[in-house]
Amino acid sequence: MVGYTIRDYGKLMNPFDKYETQSIALIGDLSILSVIHQPEDFPHRENQINTMVASLSGLIKGFSATNLLLYGKTGTGKTSVAKYVTGMLEEKIGDKVTTCYVNCQTYDSPYSILVNLSKCIPGVSNIPTSGWTLDRIYSELADQIKSIERTIILVLDEIDKLVEKNGDDSLYVILKLMVEDTGSRGSIIGITNDSSFYEKLDPRIKSRMSRESIMFTPYNAEELKDILYPRVANVLSPQSYDEAAISLCAAIGAREHGDARKAIDLMRISIEMAMRDNSNKVSVNHVYNARDTLEVDIIRETVKTQPTHSKLVLFSVILSGERHPNSATTGEVSGLYADLCREIGIQPLTSRRVSDYISELEDLGMINTTVKSLGRYGRTRYIKITGRENDIKHFILEDQELEPLKNIKGTRQFRLDEHI
Ligand SMILES: Nc1ncnc2c1ncn2[C@@H]1O[C@H](COP(=O)(O)OP(=O)(O)O)[C@@H](O)[C@H]1O
Ligand SMILES: [Mg+2]
Repeated sequence: MVGYTIRDYGKLMNPFDKYETQSIALIGDLSILSVIHQPEDFPHRENQINTMVASLSGLIKGFSATNLLLYGKTGTGKTSVAKYVTGMLEEKIGDKVTTCYVNCQTYDSPYSILVNLSKCIPGVSNIPTSGWTLDRIYSELADQIKSIERTIILVLDEIDKLVEKNGDDSLYVILKLMVEDTGSRGSIIGITNDSSFYEKLDPRIKSRMSRESIMFTPYNAEELKDILYPRVANVLSPQSYDEAAISLCAAIGAREHGDARKAIDLMRISIEMAMRDNSNKVSVNHVYNARDTLEVDIIRETVKTQPTHSKLVLFSVILSGERHPNSATTGEVSGLYADLCREIGIQPLTSRRVSDYISELEDLGMINTTVKSLGRYGRTRYIKITGRENDIKHFILEDQELEPLKNIKGTRQFRLDEHI
């Protein structure tokens, strides 16, 4: 059928043909380089694994387990190591232990966490997902856990999100259930990116939490290479990649707070790009392109999740920069911001709030500010976008409320020319 073919020098070709002669040989599933893949070996996490195993080892002899708190930045292996260690424990004494993994970013109330917990416990089936009060679920679970001859380990990943959203009391409820009201049959493994999480907790929670903390340090570039190699070797034949591509993924991951996820994602996207170009090798150029794609995705996500006023401030920074490269001042940005607000019919915020948004945008890495002294005229803060202004503009204008700003330019006839 002509609709499915393309013409090449007079003969009809199927557009999929070129993918049949793919030169990069995939020897394994590309999902080995995705976050859902659970590795069986964790280079450079031996200490953390040993400490966790030692803490949980009492369970093998029938003692109760200590609670654990795993800390560390994103991509340092906390989630996957916790799943690995609890999986190994179940392999050893699955008749005595059950693990329940809950991500508090997704299940962020005590109610939903307890419902999830009830689903993991063998023999507990009569708790409905809605309709019962928290008290009723609580006492039913406490009774059931007490009556079964096994320890329940509740892994609360992103535990800080639970407390952030529902306050300390939410964690108190869960701790009380697991630590006190189940006759020492429960234990908690909390996981967090927030290194001050424990310190910020209420003292009555701290005392119940009595725990061992395990730090997941950021990986350096060499360590990330050791993590990447075995995974890549399971996906690609040795002829299908330049070693430099792996080193570059590792170096970029190391610069991003030692993030293995970033390094692995980059490698996977690089392979996808090389396959799409029909290249016969994954090269550093593919990695650079993959990094750009990832960066743009992150920028889009960051812009999209900003409140309207923050988007307007950011837009004003870009427009001011178009007018005065390198020298847009806070005053100019605030003036433009106020005019943009009027343009779309909303009330501008006070300059103090605008200043707060400027600081937040700087924390997010979207803008840079520098303060210069003007001698006896005081000091002025200069603001500059960190880059990718066209992408950012495009993402800001994806907000329907801001669409009227589409045709406004920095060097333009916008009516606030006289404003500056
Ligand atoms: N030491 C390691 N060895 C192998 N893979 C690792 C290691 N550390 C992290 N990873 C991988 O990096 C990715 C991110 O790890 P993850 O456990 O989700 O980090 P965190 O929970 O700290 O954000 C996962 O794909 C994981 O398999
Ligand atoms: Mg995690």
